[in-house]
Amino acid sequence: MYFIHLPQINEMNYFNNVLDSIGNTPLIKINKLCSTTKAKVLAKVETTNPGNSVKDRMALKMVEDAEELGLIKPGGTIVEGTSGNTGMGLALACIVKGYKLICVLNDKQSKEKMDILRAVGAEVVVCPTAVEPEDPRSYYSVSKRLAEETPNSWYVNQYDNLSNRKAHYESTGPEIWEQTDGKITHFVVGVGTGGTISGVGKFLKEKNPNIKIWGIDTYGSVFKKYHETGIFDENEIYPYITEGIGEDILPENVDFEIIDAFEKVTDKDAAVYTRKLAREEGIFVGNSAGAAIKGVCQLADQLTEDDVVVVLFHDHGSRYIGKIFNDDWMKERGFLDEEKKVAKDIVISHEGKRLVKADVNDPLSMVMVAMKQFDISQIPVFENGKMVGSISDHNLFKKILDEPEIKEFPVKNVMEAPFPSVDGTTPINEITSLFNSNNRAVIVNYDKDKQHIITVQDMMNAVGANNN
Ligand SMILES: Cc1ncc(COP(=O)(O)O)c(C=O)c1O
Repeated sequence: MYFIHLPQINEMNYFNNVLDSIGNTPLIKINKLCSTTKAKVLAKVETTNPGNSVKDRMALKMVEDAEELGLIKPGGTIVEGTSGNTGMGLALACIVKGYKLICVLNDKQSKEKMDILRAVGAEVVVCPTAVEPEDPRSYYSVSKRLAEETPNSWYVNQYDNLSNRKAHYESTGPEIWEQTDGKITHFVVGVGTGGTISGVGKFLKEKNPNIKIWGIDTYGSVFKKYHETGIFDENEIYPYITEGIGEDILPENVDFEIIDAFEKVTDKDAAVYTRKLAREEGIFVGNSAGAAIKGVCQLADQLTEDDVVVVLFHDHGSRYIGKIFNDDWMKERGFLDEEKKVAKDIVISHEGKRLVKADVNDPLSMVMVAMKQFDISQIPVFENGKMVGSISDHNLFKKILDEPEIKEFPVKNVMEAPFPSVDGTTPINEITSLFNSNNRAVIVNYDKDKQHIITVQDMMNAVGANNN
């Protein structure tokens, strides 16, 4: 029998309803993905909100402000044109507060998104995508019409409803300030309605006007050009894939004065980096998070080691299972080739283990013990920090059988040629060609001064030859 020792708890610790659990999301250090920058990069990961996105914060605030202004009355109906995160946040608020919710979606949205909204009680109205915004069948027109026709209803309009950015001014901004102990120097985030960047940015700049606020934009969106030139250029507008960020309108929630710069990230990079966040950091988040972290990498040369960058990740990766995390979807769009494995991808998995090496003057008996202890077949030999040779079990044991007395000789007397060296970005198909019957390992130099070994076994694992 096990006795579990729990700390003495004098008071119960719970939320009165799901809405009270919104906020207080964690700040998590990015350890591998931003190796090009010397700055400390911290991710504000919003997936622990009950609706799995940052949008819970603004959805609740918009509803509560509408209640205070008398725009929505008990038993009323809330109407919004939303496909995902805001709809989920509104649905939670409606459940707790007793309102009905109508979400108007266009028919390009996935069935999963519609089912998720229905799961939390929303009525889903689907409109055709291939019509102009002014067409009475468009989702803009239908949302407005439903709000006008439905008694005791209220149309949210997250783009121009300024309670959106106020929510972030009141909660997200102060959390980031406190979590970084006021040391934040840069805030980076994807921009859609503009609520997150404008609210957080305003709060942070009031605390310290030197903090830089950088918005992440997509190719196909008007934001960057408008910010830099004041021109709303319709030529900038074309269809793109990245979800949640970029616009073909200027929402009232975007406060261009607060934003220091916009950086554009391609659809492909956003998708590839969303997958990297999951695989290399264990942070399973959505498409706009991939764009945001790639934006930080692109801006690395503007950051120093004294900088503390906070990058906000909006939503959960589970919403993108059929797209970004689906290999076929990625391949159809030509997004997967950048994921070809390189040398660093292979050594990263055994980074926790030290590279076992020998010095030219070590006796061979010591090398034999190391091979046995660490269950390895080859060891690089170093002299004054430089690789000058190698020892492999196959050749070593042949030599010892012929001349048993060499066991106490220094390694330099019997060592073979050094293993070939590659850098971390070398594709694995190039590494494969370096292996042959005389050479059973390759040394990888990566991340400035790190070094590790790739063996035949590692190559087999990398190409999927082992199924365990
Ligand atoms: C996944 C995702 N990322 C980014 C954004 C942009 O955030 P904001 O609307 O606060 O600018 C949104 C907004 O819809 C979103 O859903």
